[in-house]
Amino acid sequence: MQAASAHMTRTLLRRLAVALVFGVLLLAGAELGTSDAFAQSSVRTGEEASSISPVDGQVPGNALGETSQADYWRAVRSGTQGFVSIPDKKAGTLIQSEGEAWRSFRNGPLSLYASWAILATIIGLCLFYALRGRIRIEHGKSDQTITRFAWIERFGHWMTAISFVVLGLSGLNVLYGRYVFPALIGDSAFGFLTQIGKYLHNYLAFAFMGGLVMIFVMWVRHNLPDRTDIKWILQAGGMFSKNLHPPAKKFNAGQKLIFWSVMLGGLSLSLSGWALLFPFTTHFFGDTFDKINWLFGTELPTALTVLQEQQINQLWHAIMAIFMVCVILAHIYIGTLGMEGAFDAMGSGEVDLNWAKEHHALWVDEELEKESRRERGSSAAQPAE
Ligand code: HEM
Repeated sequence: MQAASAHMTRTLLRRLAVALVFGVLLLAGAELGTSDAFAQSSVRTGEEASSISPVDGQVPGNALGETSQADYWRAVRSGTQGFVSIPDKKAGTLIQSEGEAWRSFRNGPLSLYASWAILATIIGLCLFYALRGRIRIEHGKSDQTITRFAWIERFGHWMTAISFVVLGLSGLNVLYGRYVFPALIGDSAFGFLTQIGKYLHNYLAFAFMGGLVMIFVMWVRHNLPDRTDIKWILQAGGMFSKNLHPPAKKFNAGQKLIFWSVMLGGLSLSLSGWALLFPFTTHFFGDTFDKINWLFGTELPTALTVLQEQQINQLWHAIMAIFMVCVILAHIYIGTLGMEGAFDAMGSGEVDLNWAKEHHALWVDEELEKESRRERGSSAAQPAE
């Protein structure tokens, strides 16, 4: 009986002790709840909130320090560059918010519209082929040929062409590969492929630039616009109607358009690519925006950080590359499947005379004239017997 009452007393005391501790904790909590320190992180009414909001940067209660950090972090997010003692001064920018904008534009609208542009070009070429068919040599093949391009011209063309194709494929892999290849060949093989592609892209860029220079030097004089282009354009090059062959010199207006697209697009692609290859060393966009502002009175930002330069360079490089890919797809189509006899010009360098007369009548006249002048010259130089 005694033992039972002792046990009850002990239980009672234990419960009292627990209640006491609990009560103390509750009181402490209540006290904490009304204090400014706890108020900082709890949800409050508008009135309560305004009574504890920082005034002139001063936080009541000294809980998070004397000064509000909001302005500080706002400045950090705005990309303000602070001071660092290490050589890489870019590290002084803690958060570069434009990076987020760059990333979402690149992976969003840029990738999407670029893929549409390529798809639209391919569909357009398929439709053209379906409606127009292959452009044939109307008078059939003759048994004569005429030299269209010397070996050095073909060398310059193929150097540009092969490097462009590899650059294009490895570049497209960087933009879209991750959506296609890991599922097909696995992550490791995709990583390996991309690494190889990156090296090819970096080094073949120089072959492409060299090829552009060669093509420019060799063909620029044949690509200056002249009167014959107007007729060719008005008749759409005879592309939509058989039996129509507007006369053209060495290059027709369509080819001149390709030439200048390749030259100007290639130059822009090369400059932006150069800036990506040697990062943080150029100010192409700041300088360009400066000129545009001067010319058009616009207010484009000119004081770009090297990082912003890099981001705009990357976007521009991709845009120009997609433009070039679309132009070159059309060019490859007409140089192969689209037109009978065209490929020989860049293959052997010799084209069928009928093909040449149909597509470049004025050029054939010039060449034949040159030839007969040469012959006259050489027969005049023959010593009289
Ligand atoms: C890869 C496949 C390619 C093929 C089959 C091809 C074929 C041809 C052919 C047959 C010509 C001569 C046309 C004529 O005799 O009138 C030509 C010219 C030319 N090619 Fe290509 N080409 C290719 C790629 C490229 C690339 C990648 C570029 C530049 C990035 C390029 C730039 C040019 C230029 C500027 C001309 C002179 C203007 C013209 O004919 O349009 N080609 N090509």
